[in-house]
Amino acid sequence: MTRLKDAIDYIAAAVIKQRDLLDRLDSIGDSDHGTNMARGFEAAVDALDKIEDLDGAKKVFTVVGKAFAESIGGASGPLYATAFLRAADICDENTKFNIENVEKLLKAAIDGIKKRGHSDVGEKTMLDVLVPVYECFTPEQVKDNTLYQCIGAAVKAAKKGLDYTKTIPATKGRAAYIGERSIGHEDPGAMSSLIMVRELFNFLKY
Ligand SMILES: Nc1ncnc2c1ncn2[C@@H]1O[C@H](COP(=O)(O)OP(=O)(O)O)[C@@H](O)[C@H]1O
Ligand SMILES: [Mg+2]
Repeated sequence: MTRLKDAIDYIAAAVIKQRDLLDRLDSIGDSDHGTNMARGFEAAVDALDKIEDLDGAKKVFTVVGKAFAESIGGASGPLYATAFLRAADICDENTKFNIENVEKLLKAAIDGIKKRGHSDVGEKTMLDVLVPVYECFTPEQVKDNTLYQCIGAAVKAAKKGLDYTKTIPATKGRAAYIGERSIGHEDPGAMSSLIMVRELFNFLKY
Protein backbone atom coordinates (compact mmCIF):
# COMPACT_ATOMS: atom_id res chain seq x y z
CA MET A 1 0.00 0.00 0.00
CA THR A 2 2.92 2.35 -0.44
CA ARG A 3 1.19 3.76 -3.54
CA LEU A 4 -1.85 4.74 -1.48
CA LYS A 5 0.46 6.31 1.09
CA ASP A 6 2.29 8.15 -1.71
CA ALA A 7 -1.05 9.44 -3.01
CA ILE A 8 -1.99 10.71 0.44
CA ASP A 9 1.41 12.37 0.88
CA TYR A 10 0.93 14.07 -2.50
CA ILE A 11 -2.60 15.25 -1.70
CA ALA A 12 -1.52 16.39 1.76
CA ALA A 13 1.27 18.55 0.32
CA ALA A 14 -1.17 20.14 -2.15
CA VAL A 15 -3.78 20.91 0.53
CA ILE A 16 -1.15 22.33 2.89
CA LYS A 17 0.01 24.60 0.03
CA GLN A 18 -3.55 25.95 -0.26
CA ARG A 19 -3.85 26.78 3.45
CA ASP A 20 -4.15 30.53 2.86
CA LEU A 21 -6.71 30.18 0.06
CA LEU A 22 -8.87 27.90 2.24
CA ASP A 23 -8.58 30.23 5.24
CA ARG A 24 -9.57 33.14 3.00
CA LEU A 25 -12.62 31.31 1.59
CA ASP A 26 -13.64 30.57 5.18
CA SER A 27 -14.17 34.30 5.73
CA ILE A 28 -17.86 33.28 5.42
CA GLY A 29 -17.17 31.25 8.61
CA ASP A 30 -14.23 31.79 10.97
CA SER A 31 -11.29 31.81 8.53
CA ASP A 32 -9.64 28.64 9.77
CA HIS A 33 -10.49 25.93 7.21
CA GLY A 34 -7.02 25.94 5.64
CA THR A 35 -5.37 25.89 9.05
CA ASN A 36 -7.60 22.99 10.08
CA MET A 37 -6.96 20.97 6.92
CA ALA A 38 -3.22 21.59 7.07
CA ARG A 39 -3.16 20.42 10.67
CA GLY A 40 -5.16 17.30 9.80
CA PHE A 41 -2.98 16.35 6.86
CA GLU A 42 0.25 17.05 8.75
CA ALA A 43 -0.97 14.73 11.52
CA ALA A 44 -2.03 12.10 8.97
CA VAL A 45 1.31 12.11 7.16
CA ASP A 46 3.20 11.92 10.49
CA ALA A 47 1.04 9.01 11.65
CA LEU A 48 1.48 7.12 8.36
CA ASP A 49 5.25 7.67 8.48
CA LYS A 50 5.40 6.02 11.90
CA ILE A 51 3.73 2.79 10.82
CA GLU A 52 6.02 0.12 9.44
CA ASP A 53 3.51 -2.40 8.12
CA LEU A 54 0.94 -0.35 6.20
CA ASP A 55 -0.72 -3.49 4.90
CA GLY A 56 -3.81 -2.50 3.00
CA ALA A 57 -6.24 0.33 2.41
CA LYS A 58 -8.16 -0.42 5.61
CA LYS A 59 -5.21 0.46 7.79
CA VAL A 60 -4.20 3.52 5.76
CA PHE A 61 -7.71 5.02 5.84
CA THR A 62 -8.08 4.23 9.54
CA VAL A 63 -4.83 5.98 10.40
CA VAL A 64 -5.81 9.05 8.34
CA GLY A 65 -9.31 9.16 9.83
CA LYS A 66 -8.01 8.97 13.39
CA ALA A 67 -5.38 11.64 12.70
CA PHE A 68 -8.11 13.98 11.42
CA ALA A 69 -10.38 13.23 14.37
CA GLU A 70 -7.62 13.87 16.89
CA SER A 71 -5.98 16.93 15.39
CA ILE A 72 -8.79 19.17 14.10
CA GLY A 73 -11.14 21.13 16.31
CA GLY A 74 -13.43 22.49 13.58
CA ALA A 75 -16.47 20.86 11.99
CA SER A 76 -14.47 19.62 9.03
CA GLY A 77 -12.24 17.44 11.25
CA PRO A 78 -14.88 15.02 12.50
CA LEU A 79 -16.64 15.11 9.11
CA TYR A 80 -13.60 14.19 7.03
CA ALA A 81 -12.52 11.77 9.79
CA THR A 82 -15.88 10.02 9.51
CA ALA A 83 -15.47 9.85 5.73
CA PHE A 84 -12.08 8.14 5.98
CA LEU A 85 -13.22 5.78 8.76
CA ARG A 86 -16.37 4.74 6.88
CA ALA A 87 -14.23 4.13 3.79
CA ALA A 88 -11.93 1.99 5.94
CA ASP A 89 -14.93 -0.03 7.15
CA ILE A 90 -15.59 -1.40 3.67
CA CYS A 91 -11.94 -2.13 2.84
CA ASP A 92 -9.67 -4.97 3.85
CA GLU A 93 -6.00 -5.68 3.32
CA ASN A 94 -6.65 -6.89 -0.24
CA THR A 95 -8.96 -4.14 -1.49
CA LYS A 96 -8.08 -3.04 -5.01
CA PHE A 97 -9.05 0.35 -6.31
CA ASN A 98 -11.28 -0.56 -9.21
CA ILE A 99 -14.33 1.49 -10.25
CA GLU A 100 -16.75 -0.64 -8.29
CA ASN A 101 -14.77 -0.38 -5.06
CA VAL A 102 -14.21 3.35 -5.43
CA GLU A 103 -17.99 3.78 -5.86
CA LYS A 104 -18.66 1.79 -2.69
CA LEU A 105 -16.00 3.60 -0.76
CA LEU A 106 -17.27 7.05 -1.75
CA LYS A 107 -20.84 6.07 -0.95
CA ALA A 108 -19.84 4.93 2.53
CA ALA A 109 -17.81 8.11 3.09
CA ILE A 110 -20.65 10.39 1.93
CA ASP A 111 -23.30 8.56 3.93
CA GLY A 112 -21.04 8.99 6.97
CA ILE A 113 -20.74 12.75 6.41
CA LYS A 114 -24.50 13.16 5.86
CA LYS A 115 -25.30 11.28 9.05
CA ARG A 116 -22.71 12.99 11.20
CA GLY A 117 -23.39 16.44 9.73
CA HIS A 118 -27.19 16.10 9.48
CA SER A 119 -26.66 17.53 6.04
CA ASP A 120 -27.24 16.88 2.35
CA VAL A 121 -26.50 18.42 -1.04
CA GLY A 122 -27.74 21.97 -1.57
CA GLU A 123 -26.56 23.29 1.82
CA LYS A 124 -23.27 24.82 0.62
CA THR A 125 -20.89 22.23 2.05
CA MET A 126 -18.28 19.69 0.98
CA LEU A 127 -21.22 17.44 -0.02
CA ASP A 128 -21.94 19.69 -3.02
CA VAL A 129 -18.62 18.51 -4.43
CA LEU A 130 -18.43 14.98 -3.03
CA VAL A 131 -21.87 13.80 -4.20
CA PRO A 132 -21.34 14.80 -7.88
CA VAL A 133 -17.88 13.21 -7.62
CA TYR A 134 -19.46 9.98 -6.37
CA GLU A 135 -21.96 9.99 -9.27
CA CYS A 136 -19.05 9.74 -11.75
CA PHE A 137 -18.38 6.20 -10.45
CA THR A 138 -21.94 4.89 -10.74
CA PRO A 139 -22.72 2.45 -13.58
CA GLU A 140 -24.96 5.01 -15.37
CA GLN A 141 -22.07 7.45 -15.75
CA VAL A 142 -19.13 5.06 -16.03
CA LYS A 143 -20.13 3.38 -19.32
CA ASP A 144 -16.86 2.22 -20.98
CA ASN A 145 -14.60 4.59 -19.08
CA THR A 146 -11.49 3.47 -17.23
CA LEU A 147 -10.96 4.35 -13.57
CA TYR A 148 -8.58 7.12 -14.59
CA GLN A 149 -11.17 8.59 -17.00
CA CYS A 150 -13.76 8.46 -14.22
CA ILE A 151 -11.42 10.40 -11.94
CA GLY A 152 -10.96 12.95 -14.74
CA ALA A 153 -14.76 13.28 -15.00
CA ALA A 154 -14.87 13.61 -11.21
CA VAL A 155 -12.54 16.62 -11.31
CA LYS A 156 -14.92 18.33 -13.76
CA ALA A 157 -17.93 17.43 -11.61
CA ALA A 158 -16.12 18.77 -8.54
CA LYS A 159 -15.49 22.12 -10.26
CA LYS A 160 -19.18 22.36 -11.18
CA GLY A 161 -20.10 21.49 -7.60
CA LEU A 162 -17.82 24.20 -6.25
CA ASP A 163 -19.37 26.75 -8.67
CA TYR A 164 -22.82 25.68 -7.50
CA THR A 165 -21.91 26.47 -3.87
CA LYS A 166 -21.45 30.10 -4.97
CA THR A 167 -25.10 30.34 -5.99
CA ILE A 168 -26.73 29.14 -2.76
CA PRO A 169 -26.88 30.25 0.89
CA ALA A 170 -25.25 28.16 3.61
CA THR A 171 -27.69 26.33 5.82
CA LYS A 172 -25.14 24.19 7.72
CA GLY A 173 -21.91 25.04 9.54
CA ARG A 174 -20.71 28.46 10.66
CA ALA A 175 -21.47 30.11 7.32
CA ALA A 176 -25.17 29.48 8.05
CA TYR A 177 -24.96 32.37 10.54
CA ILE A 178 -24.60 34.81 7.67
CA GLY A 179 -27.19 32.91 5.57
CA GLU A 180 -28.07 34.81 2.38
CA ARG A 181 -24.91 36.92 2.63
CA SER A 182 -22.89 33.77 1.91
CA ILE A 183 -24.30 33.75 -1.67
CA GLY A 184 -21.59 34.71 -4.15
CA HIS A 185 -18.87 32.95 -2.15
CA GLU A 186 -17.43 29.49 -2.72
CA ASP A 187 -17.66 27.10 0.20
CA PRO A 188 -14.24 26.35 1.73
CA GLY A 189 -15.05 22.68 2.43
CA ALA A 190 -16.23 22.24 -1.14
CA MET A 191 -12.89 23.72 -2.25
CA SER A 192 -10.86 21.35 -0.04
CA SER A 193 -12.79 18.38 -1.45
CA LEU A 194 -12.13 19.62 -5.00
CA ILE A 195 -8.41 19.97 -4.24
CA MET A 196 -8.25 16.38 -2.94
CA VAL A 197 -9.95 14.93 -6.05
CA ARG A 198 -7.92 17.11 -8.43
CA GLU A 199 -4.64 16.18 -6.77
CA LEU A 200 -5.48 12.48 -6.84
CA PHE A 201 -5.93 12.89 -10.60
CA ASN A 202 -2.61 14.76 -10.86
CA PHE A 203 -0.86 12.11 -8.77
CA LEU A 204 -2.10 9.35 -11.09
CA LYS A 205 -0.87 11.22 -14.17
CA TYR A 206 2.72 10.28 -13.37
N1 LIG B 1 -23.05 19.86 8.84
C1 LIG B 1 -22.14 19.85 7.85
N2 LIG B 1 -22.20 18.90 6.89
C2 LIG B 1 -21.29 18.86 5.90
N3 LIG B 1 -20.26 19.74 5.80
C3 LIG B 1 -20.18 20.70 6.73
C4 LIG B 1 -21.09 20.81 7.79
N4 LIG B 1 -20.71 21.86 8.57
C5 LIG B 1 -19.61 22.40 7.99
N5 LIG B 1 -19.28 21.67 6.89
C6 LIG B 1 -18.13 21.90 6.00
O1 LIG B 1 -17.04 22.28 6.80
C7 LIG B 1 -16.47 23.47 6.27
C8 LIG B 1 -15.91 24.33 7.40
O2 LIG B 1 -14.85 23.64 8.00
P1 LIG B 1 -13.92 24.34 9.09
O3 LIG B 1 -13.79 25.78 8.82
O4 LIG B 1 -12.65 23.57 9.10
O5 LIG B 1 -14.70 24.09 10.45
P2 LIG B 1 -15.51 25.17 11.33
O6 LIG B 1 -16.72 25.53 10.53
O7 LIG B 1 -15.86 24.47 12.59
O8 LIG B 1 -14.62 26.35 11.53
C9 LIG B 1 -17.58 24.14 5.52
O9 LIG B 1 -17.08 24.95 4.47
C10 LIG B 1 -18.42 22.99 5.00
O10 LIG B 1 -17.99 22.55 3.73
MG1 LIG C 1 -13.92 27.45 9.95
